[in-house]
Amino acid sequence: MGNVVDDLIARVFDDVRSLDAGEVADYIPELAAVAPDSFGICLATIDGYVYEIGDSRHPFTIQSISKPFTYALALADRGAEAVDAKIDVEPSGEPFNEISLDPLTERPRNPMINAGAITAASLVTGADQATRFERIRAAYSRYAGRELPFNEAVYESEARTGHRNRAIGHMLRSFDVISGDPNDAVDLYFRQCSIDVTCRDLSLMAATMANNGVNPLTRERALTAVGVEQVLSVMSTCGMYDGAGKWLVEVGLPAKSGVGGGVMAVLPGQIGIAVYSPRLDAHGNSVRGVAAAKALSKELELHFL
Ligand code: DON
Repeated sequence: MGNVVDDLIARVFDDVRSLDAGEVADYIPELAAVAPDSFGICLATIDGYVYEIGDSRHPFTIQSISKPFTYALALADRGAEAVDAKIDVEPSGEPFNEISLDPLTERPRNPMINAGAITAASLVTGADQATRFERIRAAYSRYAGRELPFNEAVYESEARTGHRNRAIGHMLRSFDVISGDPNDAVDLYFRQCSIDVTCRDLSLMAATMANNGVNPLTRERALTAVGVEQVLSVMSTCGMYDGAGKWLVEVGLPAKSGVGGGVMAVLPGQIGIAVYSPRLDAHGNSVRGVAAAKALSKELELHFL
């Protein structure tokens, strides 16, 4: 089995490597500094095998892939009813940074677009901002099975330039979706986006979700089974933003992308997949990430429908 998967990811890696379309995100100045051609693929099974190729241990910021994990923490902290009252679970078909609320419910449409993600961050409990962030970092680390570091340079770069997210924070405050200082919620969101991961980490984080919330290597529980179900459901319909429909047709797995170049996908009960390649398409999804996931899904027959 091991050799078969190693051969497969090597083949997909070689096929996809030639794709050089897309652009590295540069709206956060520090993100433009990454090597555009870096490329890694990892596949982790729920019994703890990790297959990796390329730049699988190269650190990059998690960015929007943080969203399902903070949403999971908010669900654990507040309970589903309280979280649902603030964040809907409907696909929006909108870009990730849309300044939007559902006009009928006056709630963000889902926790994967920024409006919903900033709201989810505001629901994480903790006595002060530092405690709340530490709880987020510790939670992500449980999924990865190691202490994940904070990337100060990327955080400062985004904090300096993230006016659109601040606008979203103030909009949420004005509609009473978030209470307290909206700058705190936005700052927490900038910080969570600036946690460093590797492709290997992301595959284990995905495999932890696939394993009903238990890390396959450390055996530590990161989330309850009920929480996993809700998070994976929302990832299925909203994880790839306005590219979610095509992704579901072509890859057929709950997934999440980030502008740092990472993509992770989950096959419940079986495996977690991660790809890292920083050139992005128009939706902010990694070009090679989407292509590699599509190829792996086809070869391994992972499409869940
Ligand atoms: O909200 C932002 O601008 C970023 N820090 C995260 C966005 C992101 O990763 C969108 N995903 N593709």
